[in-house]
Amino acid sequence: MKKVDVVLGMQWGDEGKGKVVDVLTPDYDVVARFQGGPNAGHSIHFAGKSFVLHTVPSGIFRDGATNIIGNGVVIDPVILMDEISQIEEMGLDCTSRLQIAKRANLILPTHRILDAANEAAKGKSKIGSTLKGIGPAYTDKIARVGLRVGDISAADFRARYDALKASHLATIANLGYTDFDICAYEQKWFEAVEALRRFTFIDNEVLVNKYLQDGISILAEGAQGSLLDVDFGTYPFVTSSNTLCAGACTGLGVAPSRIGNVYGIFKAYCTRVGAGPFPTELFDETGEALRRIGHEFGATTGRPRRCGWLDLVALKYTVIMNGATSLIMMKCDVMNDFDTVKVAVGYEMDGQTIDWFPYEANDKEIKPVYREFKGWKCDVTKCRSYEELPAELKEYISFIEEYCGVPVKVVSVGPDREETIVRG
Ligand code: GDP
Ligand code: IMO
Ligand code: MG
Repeated sequence: MKKVDVVLGMQWGDEGKGKVVDVLTPDYDVVARFQGGPNAGHSIHFAGKSFVLHTVPSGIFRDGATNIIGNGVVIDPVILMDEISQIEEMGLDCTSRLQIAKRANLILPTHRILDAANEAAKGKSKIGSTLKGIGPAYTDKIARVGLRVGDISAADFRARYDALKASHLATIANLGYTDFDICAYEQKWFEAVEALRRFTFIDNEVLVNKYLQDGISILAEGAQGSLLDVDFGTYPFVTSSNTLCAGACTGLGVAPSRIGNVYGIFKAYCTRVGAGPFPTELFDETGEALRRIGHEFGATTGRPRRCGWLDLVALKYTVIMNGATSLIMMKCDVMNDFDTVKVAVGYEMDGQTIDWFPYEANDKEIKPVYREFKGWKCDVTKCRSYEELPAELKEYISFIEEYCGVPVKVVSVGPDREETIVRG
């Protein structure tokens, strides 16, 4: 019996999950997304081409792999069909490569408007949502009123849609939000729903467990990052799903005992989009350099990402919460020219030094305690083996491994598939 291996973001998202899943896919038969929705933007670069995937799993570009959108994902048919059209323009047939869970909830046009209305109502305390309707769609799922992919074939689909839309419009009116026009998007939405019918809608929990029984290998792809988890992230500045490893169980229908390797992906520094605490954030030219050299602008919204030093206190917290079995470090090449590099190894809060990520992160001032490392001051993008990496970078990596208690198994030195070092 096989186990499901899981790829997870360990920070605030955008760690490089898309690249890693694309790199790992040749070792797997199936790639499955288990939570989130089009708030995600997973970039993949190969053969001089670039793609940003929002809902389609990042195994789609590798021949032979089946890609599953699991029950834990929320789907906007317009965004999904746009993405599929772009992939098919490359000559790939998604009908045979992609299967969609009947139990996945749909994002309605009014979910997007609700997202905008909720954010507008919050004023200064807004979360900085991607405005893709994620929060409202998960709200309806939990309230047990959502529409699911499997409902598309139901005779009363339109009537149920209209009833849900009416209740959304009442809420939107209550919020006093008027800045929207639903007609154009709604028409596209119904066209996209029709177009989705050519795909196989699956009972993913049955299929995934049968695959495991039959020795078929599965890689589960997370979206967002652990610090955006609705329970353990920096609530309320989080997304509306469980981004932790546990989300792979509920989002695909696999038992905890069927989870195998857990790959925790982190950047060699930190970024965050949207509002919320970020203890190691830099407001100086170093932060600016990370953003400029790392091209830290959102893959989904284009917003500039907030940048700062690597936070090992937060990383260790997420390693533990996920049971990460190994780590994958991305984007160290961005700091090639830095004289020194810092990592947070503790926080000062209320005059005390602590070494855990505190519940009070939203309200209290947290001052990171840093350990400084000598920069490697050379171009690592051409390195293809661990041995070739400069001694200073190896020291940086060793310290991270020691602090977190987990090995760094892969080091990414550039955005392309090829720019990857897998340690033996
Ligand atoms: P995801 O949401 O976790 O899939 O990450 P994103 O795609 O949103 O953001 C990661 C960005 O970093 C993308 O633009 C990637 O192409 C890029 N990237 C990934 N790995 C590396 C790396 O090792 N070095 C550099 N310079 N860029 C990378
Ligand atoms: P990937 O999968 C980075 C952030 C938003 C906002 C908060 C809530 O590409 O790593 P939402 O739209 O979910 O209601 O927004 O979460 N956020 C992300 N940040 N990467 C993502 O996905 C994100 N998805 C959501 O910026 O702060
Ligand atoms: Mg992203």
